[in-house]
Amino acid sequence: MPLSKPRLAKDLNRRIPPSHRSDLAGVLIPEVELQKRIATMGRAIARDYAGRDVLVVSLLSGTVLFLADLLRRLPFPLRVDFLGVSSYGAGTESGNLVFNKELKLDVRGAHVLVVDDILDTGKTLRAVTDRIAALRPASIRTCVLLDKKERRVGTFEADYVGFRIPNLFVVGYGLDFAERYRNLPFVGVLKPEVYAPGPVQPKRGSA
Ligand code: PRP
Repeated sequence: MPLSKPRLAKDLNRRIPPSHRSDLAGVLIPEVELQKRIATMGRAIARDYAGRDVLVVSLLSGTVLFLADLLRRLPFPLRVDFLGVSSYGAGTESGNLVFNKELKLDVRGAHVLVVDDILDTGKTLRAVTDRIAALRPASIRTCVLLDKKERRVGTFEADYVGFRIPNLFVVGYGLDFAERYRNLPFVGVLKPEVYAPGPVQPKRGSA
């Protein structure tokens, strides 16, 4: 299957909305670029899956915005289900995986397309695809908006990739830090002092 061509978003010096200037270092992927790329991904997926029994499995919670926009670009009959999975770990690192919502729909014989917001170490998608494979689907493929390839542990590649991005702490368009920022309509970069505040400095002149 031909892959969507990944694209590197590299210009961080884009205008930050005044409401988020204190937290964001920049806008990595503006709304208009997200929508253009998702339209292209939708066309590739539609080409590959037309005429099949497709079950889109979305991983909660980070995919919500991406999923909503991608689904509108898939003009063929399909079903949608949600799998709840979170990684709990120290700070910004991927930790242990916890499945907190199971699939409702029957997977057996379906062509499953797993949609996630970001592929980082690959731990989540590897565990999810193993779990779904045990349910005997006809096929499983994966679709991610963002791919931080340099963070991968072992080998895992998504079948459809929106943007290959550098190892920056990204938020917005579904992605969170401490459950905040998911509602931003663009992908932004968080300032390090927001997610890794340093030790409190004594005030100048204090004892
Ligand atoms: C994030 C993200 C991916 C996963 C990627 O989920 O949504 O599912 O991490 O990381 P990995 O490739 O290293 O496994 P998170 O656990 O933060 O949950 P969320 O979607 O609710 O934010």
